[in-house]
Amino acid sequence: MARLIGLDIGTSSAKAIALDETGRILGSATRDYPLHLPEPGWAEQDPEDWWAAAQGCLEELGADRSDAIGLTGQMHGSVFLDSEGRSIRPALVWCDQRTVAECAEIESKVGSARIREITGNPPLSGFQLPKILWLKNHEPEAFSRVRQVLLPKDFIRLRLTGVSATEPSDAGGTGALELASKTWSEEVLQAVGIPAGFFPEVHPSDFASGRWNGIPVAGGGGDQAAAAVGTGAVVPGVVSISLGTSGVVFEAASGCPADHVDSIHDFPHTMGGWHRMGVMLSCGGSIRWVRDLLYSADGYDAMNREAESAGWGADGAVFLPHLQGERCPFVDPHARGGWSGVSLSHSRGTLARAAFEGVCLNLRAACELMGGGLPDRVRANGGGVKSRLWVRLLAEALECPVQLLESDEGPALGAAILGGLSAGVWNGMSEAVSAAVRVRAEVVPAERPPV
Ligand code: XUL
Repeated sequence: MARLIGLDIGTSSAKAIALDETGRILGSATRDYPLHLPEPGWAEQDPEDWWAAAQGCLEELGADRSDAIGLTGQMHGSVFLDSEGRSIRPALVWCDQRTVAECAEIESKVGSARIREITGNPPLSGFQLPKILWLKNHEPEAFSRVRQVLLPKDFIRLRLTGVSATEPSDAGGTGALELASKTWSEEVLQAVGIPAGFFPEVHPSDFASGRWNGIPVAGGGGDQAAAAVGTGAVVPGVVSISLGTSGVVFEAASGCPADHVDSIHDFPHTMGGWHRMGVMLSCGGSIRWVRDLLYSADGYDAMNREAESAGWGADGAVFLPHLQGERCPFVDPHARGGWSGVSLSHSRGTLARAAFEGVCLNLRAACELMGGGLPDRVRANGGGVKSRLWVRLLAEALECPVQLLESDEGPALGAAILGGLSAGVWNGMSEAVSAAVRVRAEVVPAERPPV
């Protein structure tokens, strides 16, 4: 039996799973760490917290007795390293919104049309390249010490194997990669004055560029692309939705996407090819915020129960989930969320219901922007699938069945599969997905009254 480890450097915790080649989960381990929000719209983490958590997870799982490790993690973050490979300052993470001026700088220096043509996307405040420019513009002394900039999971790869490298699915999210060739864009980097040497080599996602305790460590994928592997969204037509801190609608593309929409990301997929995704920044993040605000003593069970009894339409209360700016269905780093339509007769359950519905309807808007209309069915993953109510509301908002998988591990499962591919456990991605990804249930939309 193969023993494959998937290690996910998430936003609130690191998680590792052990998987066999039939897709059976043999064990899992989690370690939490803080997200620091030093100013409105800013979001930072200490890469050393990730590293400590990653080591704790690997140790708990006995990962030194495995056949391969695959990595995944939150995308877009900037780990600034000096000549000794030490982190210079806290990493700016994916939901940090401080780089509005730097995005404008990229647009003006590269050209609005040209940056979209080269990278497939507009420069967005969450992406890595504007973060590097922000350091250059605001902390020049720190910038002068930077020798390389890594993505979160690639920093863990460096610590595990001593090798700096990345892979296409995460590299696409820097905003400095040519979408078609999947190589760093000299044109973009020269235009904005960032050294190409800051960026590591790009290897295939299932390539092990180094070893940890003799075990091959595959590059893996950005968390959304890895979650897509873990849900089987590796071919066009299979749409996956992640109910994590962020909320993501994801589909593999049939070729290199050309008809770019600013609020939909076009990135490389893990195993050759490309994908499209719509990312809302505060999905589970909104639900967690409502729980902390209104249910800190009673928790998620009470929140789900009371939201369930509130009924469709939340009695006219509406929740906008844009608590940390937004990327989809519109791009606006300054967007903010909140309730409207609230009356004296409303309870906290009404507000909770409005939050669940607001998040689901935002995901519907994301689906509509992906092209091709609403999907026939979707596969859900992420922490949110634990809520029966939330999954049902998603089915109702999308007017289609939502499939649940035997394993909800999403990114970590996909990373373990990519690790297994690096070790030759399966003959290619489609054999791996058939062996390890299984649908366990389908939640169909209930008839709902017009609101
Ligand atoms: C994807 C994105 C988030 C993070 C954190 O573009 O920003 O999903 O990867 O999960």
